[in-house]
Amino acid sequence: MSLQTPWYKNAIFYEVNVRAYKDSNGDGHGDLQGLIQKLDYLKDLGVDCLWLMPIYHSPLKDDGYDISDYYNIQETFGDISDFKLLINEAHQRGIRIITDLVMNHTSDQHPWFQASRSSKDSPFRDYYVWSDDNTKYDLTRIIFLDTEESNWTFDEKTGQYYWHRFYSSQPDLNFDNPNVRQAMKDIMKFWLDMGIDGFRADAVPYLFEREGTINENLPETHTYLKEIRAYLDENYPDRILLAEANQWPKDVLAYFGDGDEFHMGFHFPIMPRIYMSLRKQDRESLVWIMRQTPDIPDNCQWCTFLRNHDELTLEMVTEEERQWMWKEYAPNPRMRLNLGIRRRLAPLLENNPNKIHLANAILFALPGTPIIYYGDEIGMGDNIWLDDRNGVRTPMQWDDSKNAGFSSANPENLYAPVIQDETFGYTKINVENQINNPLSLLNFMKKLIYLRKNNLTFSLGDFQWLNITDPAIVAFSRSYQNETMVAINNLSDQVKSVQTSLDGVNGKPLDLWSTMPLPNSEDGQINLTLQPNQFVWLKYTSSQ
Ligand code: GLC
Repeated sequence: MSLQTPWYKNAIFYEVNVRAYKDSNGDGHGDLQGLIQKLDYLKDLGVDCLWLMPIYHSPLKDDGYDISDYYNIQETFGDISDFKLLINEAHQRGIRIITDLVMNHTSDQHPWFQASRSSKDSPFRDYYVWSDDNTKYDLTRIIFLDTEESNWTFDEKTGQYYWHRFYSSQPDLNFDNPNVRQAMKDIMKFWLDMGIDGFRADAVPYLFEREGTINENLPETHTYLKEIRAYLDENYPDRILLAEANQWPKDVLAYFGDGDEFHMGFHFPIMPRIYMSLRKQDRESLVWIMRQTPDIPDNCQWCTFLRNHDELTLEMVTEEERQWMWKEYAPNPRMRLNLGIRRRLAPLLENNPNKIHLANAILFALPGTPIIYYGDEIGMGDNIWLDDRNGVRTPMQWDDSKNAGFSSANPENLYAPVIQDETFGYTKINVENQINNPLSLLNFMKKLIYLRKNNLTFSLGDFQWLNITDPAIVAFSRSYQNETMVAINNLSDQVKSVQTSLDGVNGKPLDLWSTMPLPNSEDGQINLTLQPNQFVWLKYTSSQ
């Protein structure tokens, strides 16, 4: 790798819900010590960076995204010394750790809000956004549509409304207040000094409010985020900021600035389009979104994913596409939440191994750093009968012993029930079953990770579509220095023969998965047959 290549461009990220991962003390909740026990597993999988969902003090009205104390760890997870040990143990294994930075809002239990709501004269009043009138900012959409009727909630004591983009138990901080802006920097400093490698910055589009706007992506927000970045660069080089901005690519572009805002940004709209293309057996949706995806500054990187801890969001699709996605992927109303689908990857793809492999293979070959959601590497199922997004946050399935090897607690004391259904139950789907089975999803993912990381072209290469008439074939190339990678994916459930040609390459390519040269393919001519949902990765290396 070139000396200048930033680490996050050629890395595999993994999202961990600490509560769900491994319980070390038998209280029914996953914890930091439990995660430490599983670092070898993550290392073996090939993971380079963990993103931990919030681990701070919280009344858990939004699973930790409602923080009541930014400087302490939630007791069930452990304490600061456990956290320091985790960082140390992870770093010793070459694994980095980023944590959630929730800037937009706090819990209503946070002492700032308690003080703020206590009186109009409180010195903390101005830490939050108050108004006499709940019609202010009326161009702003509601995000948690299923539960919230308004972004304003009336507070009896002082007779005013407070502003919140999420649950009413999550009042928005007022970033026009310099004390708030400074307080967030202090929080960052505290965790960075402890040794973390950066932050996944939650809900960043919503920091500022201005009348007459939709209150998303405002220039003031970018100014502040650039300030944070400058602070990071000055004091903590090599640490990163990853933006959660669920927006169209052209709007996410602004979060990269001129390479002086976020290092990384999630690419939200690719995700539903991988599912669309698969189900329609037609590449059109994917091609369309890639065409909307602008180039980003050299030192920046997209972060791509198939699933995460939230509902599969359908905010970045048209109304027609959303209805189609719901019909196809969420036929039971329990599967729907807000503007999305609360299901995991394997159930969405009918537990069909070829489809699960293909979806991952497409993701890993596209531009961007992929992130895996815990449990998806073994094809875990979900529980749509749990409330909110809890159905995709159930205990990790380690083996077929009691509680899936997650915890020694009595099952009724677990923070959430383990998955027990016939297809996805823990006696069938678990790490232990898969680890020694060469055909398991886990071993497929390991190989996928290995190939991706050892072929820098997937991380750094230019992207180009290949010309193939059949819309059921998604084919593209990635080129970097003297190497060209070609990914050809059969979206359909039919056998397909593919002929195409590529300019500027010589000789026979290597089929990366079989490690054999591809027969009948010389000097850019490609002739091959793909089984239903099969994909190939071909590598051309030129001598100069
Ligand atoms: C982000 C998180 C989500 C949370 C919300 C409010 O979108 O991913 O889980 O509920 O922010 O903090």
